[in-house]
Amino acid sequence: MKKTGTKRLETDRLILRRFTVGDAEDMYRNWASDPEVTRFLTWPCHASAKATAALLESWAEQYGDGAYFNWAIELRETCSVIGSISVVRLEEAVNAAEIGYCLCRACWGRGIMPEALRAVMDHLFDEADINRVVAYHDANNPKSGRVMQKAGMKYEGTHRQAGKNNRGICDLVCYAALRGDPRI
Ligand SMILES: CC(C)(COP(=O)(O)OP(=O)(O)OC[C@H]1O[C@@H](n2cnc3c(N)ncnc32)[C@H](O)[C@@H]1OP(=O)(O)O)[C@@H](O)C(=O)NCCC(=O)NCCS
Repeated sequence: MKKTGTKRLETDRLILRRFTVGDAEDMYRNWASDPEVTRFLTWPCHASAKATAALLESWAEQYGDGAYFNWAIELRETCSVIGSISVVRLEEAVNAAEIGYCLCRACWGRGIMPEALRAVMDHLFDEADINRVVAYHDANNPKSGRVMQKAGMKYEGTHRQAGKNNRGICDLVCYAALRGDPRI
């Protein structure tokens, strides 16, 4: 892989960029404090915007690392930060990146995350020379699987009782795409 890091990416409706500490209020209000958003995630809701700011400070320190990929999703229309998409695990030996994402509830159902995911996949394949992009979702959260399908990933199987999130132990559904797969 090439250590390209979190570069600014643009799509029709979105700007994907580095987080700054100044995003704390938006991030806290829009999604980090919402139990509906964190329902199938591994981290608990933030207790305050101060807690969000502390997390963003630690993220800011990591942006110097070219193997760190963590984008804020900004809606062009409103300039507000509405979610995040990141590489949650890199397996350099096989040139693979695992993606995680979340979006504020007010923006659900508009095809925003498939648009962000496709842009991130294209960047990882074409700029960072990643060969395999993989993502997992709780079997009880099929909406996230639909995002993966819409971005061009293929279903690879279900790992029974292999994951743990805020709801407890869950089956993990795996989707992936390879650099050489047809693009959508
Ligand atoms: C999952 C999430 C990222 C979806 O993002 P989004 O931008 O709203 O996605 P979309 O607009 O493409 O809408 C979801 C798609 O799932 C479909 N869908 C909704 N409920 C569904 C269900 N129960 N089963 C299957 N598909 C479903 C919708 O119909 C839509 O597909 P369509 O456009 O073909 O009709 C967003 O809801 C979210 O952030 N959720 C909370 C955090 C989370 O779960 N993250 C993923 C962890 S793996």
